[in-house]
Amino acid sequence: MGGATHTVLADLSLTIAAGEFAAIMGPSGSGKSTLLHILGLLDRPTSGSYRFAGRETATLSDDDLSGLRNQAIGFVFQSFYLVPYATALDNVLLPGLYSNTPKGALTRRAMELLDKVGLAAQAGHKPSQLSGGQQQRVALARALVNDPDLILADEPTGQLDSTTSAEIMELLAVINRDAGKTVIVVTHDDATAAYARRQILVHDGRVAQA
Ligand SMILES: Nc1ncnc2c1ncn2[C@@H]1O[C@H](COP(=O)(O)OP(=O)(O)OP(=O)(O)O)[C@@H](O)[C@H]1O
Ligand SMILES: [Mg+2]
Repeated sequence: MGGATHTVLADLSLTIAAGEFAAIMGPSGSGKSTLLHILGLLDRPTSGSYRFAGRETATLSDDDLSGLRNQAIGFVFQSFYLVPYATALDNVLLPGLYSNTPKGALTRRAMELLDKVGLAAQAGHKPSQLSGGQQQRVALARALVNDPDLILADEPTGQLDSTTSAEIMELLAVINRDAGKTVIVVTHDDATAAYARRQILVHDGRVAQA
């Protein structure tokens, strides 16, 4: 019952347009992940308004939010979060199982995505048989399986060396440029942020520069 409250984000105003490629930067504890969770409909702001694709989210039920999240947003995290006992292919399929797409079509789509990230040959491998960069590619393919409009990535290169980081960011750039998806990446790393066309600086829970 810890009663103390702590304000993480305040007076924060931000608009990100469809099709943008933005990096959110800022010191540790400044509220970047909190902001990304709100953008991704994983958390609700305690006050204020968040409009997603023109819809005010405050009036949506938790079920509406999870439906919208599953269908419209793909997530990538620093620690990949792959299911360890499932193959790369099954990991990519997973978010698609909640949609109405028939299994055959879904499997074809998952294989296409694995091919796009250069891992068609590793479709049957478990995460433990893949390098960190390969695991993050699987996570990217998984984020795309429901053909979302928005990709959110929290420190996607945080566990990768610079060469592998560049490969992941190139893939995100292609997803933004060729597929027209909105991409928002939280990062500490200037080289990672340089792939984005817009840098948003968060400081003490506020947008210091956008
Ligand atoms: N679940 C939680 N309960 C309480 N406080 C939290 C929780 N999650 C985050 N915080 C606090 O909110 C603030 C912002 O955290 P957040 O994780 O958004 O920062 P961040 O900018 O992503 O940091 P980092 O760069 O270290 O990942 C910090 O002060 C943190 O301690
Ligand atoms: Mg964080």
